[in-house]
Amino acid sequence: MGLISVTADTECVAFLQWALPRMGRRWEGYRKVRRRVCKKISRRALELNLPSLSDYRRYLEEDLQEWRYLDALLDVTISRFYRDRSVFDFIAAEILPTLARRAHMADHPSVRVWSTGCANGEEPYTIALMWEFSTSLDNSEAELHILATDIKATVLRRAEDALYPRSSLKDLPARWQEAAFSESGDVVALAPRFRQHVTFAQHDIRENLPDGGSLFDLIMCRYQAFTYFDEAGQRNVLDSLTQATRPGSVLVLGRRETLPSGAGSFRPLEQSLGVFKRCD
Ligand SMILES: C[S@@+](CC[C@H](N)C(=O)[O-])C[C@H]1O[C@@H](n2cnc3c(N)ncnc32)[C@H](O)[C@@H]1O
Repeated sequence: MGLISVTADTECVAFLQWALPRMGRRWEGYRKVRRRVCKKISRRALELNLPSLSDYRRYLEEDLQEWRYLDALLDVTISRFYRDRSVFDFIAAEILPTLARRAHMADHPSVRVWSTGCANGEEPYTIALMWEFSTSLDNSEAELHILATDIKATVLRRAEDALYPRSSLKDLPARWQEAAFSESGDVVALAPRFRQHVTFAQHDIRENLPDGGSLFDLIMCRYQAFTYFDEAGQRNVLDSLTQATRPGSVLVLGRRETLPSGAGSFRPLEQSLGVFKRCD
């Protein structure tokens, strides 16, 4: 790292360590992605004719409206299909078959999944692909409905278009890639048959639960609240997720994420994979 970037990095760390706790967010969650985030914040500062992040900090101290703008700059939207393969293998082998059997015994057999912080749709579409292709699943037993939400309208538009750079498929089994995607210029397009399982909606996980009121059998909440929010924020999200589920429902976090200690009724089902089950 050259002298200039060391200075920029020091300024970035100081800025984030000052701003994040004021926004219910954790510095530790941002440590690895700080350069990416500070690039966006510096661009915003320049738009306002503010030459440095210290100037931007002074601006924030005077203009309370600007915090909303900063909040939107802090979202990290990195994702890919089948991210953390062993987690999706476990979901295909253990979770979805159990949920499908449970649904089969109900009057209206459907498995309801909520992918919260779904980015460009890679995560919910991976579940849809798994439902169609996984050999451990008899998907005639139930229907699959996935609600996929994100705070950002831009990523949701991309998710609905379902066009991806081939690199985002690199963890998907080759057979699934061939069967589900077709070339479309320099990107690949997901076939409509897999898209029909997923409904996208804009939603902030810090607000009330999404409309509809139905309970979910499986919630994916990965690399979002439990990485970036402070403990109070994480507890609030956990309360909402609990309200959105029933006993026996499953919650999947990112592999390196944990639930706030002593909170809630989710217990580890496979802790090393970030998989928890509601046990009350
Ligand atoms: C790092 S991506 C993770 C995507 C996917 N869950 C995965 O694990 O690959 C985090 C996503 O959460 C979204 N997000 C951030 N804050 C949010 C909030 N308060 N409510 C809903 N979504 C949020 C971001 O816009 C981003 O698309």
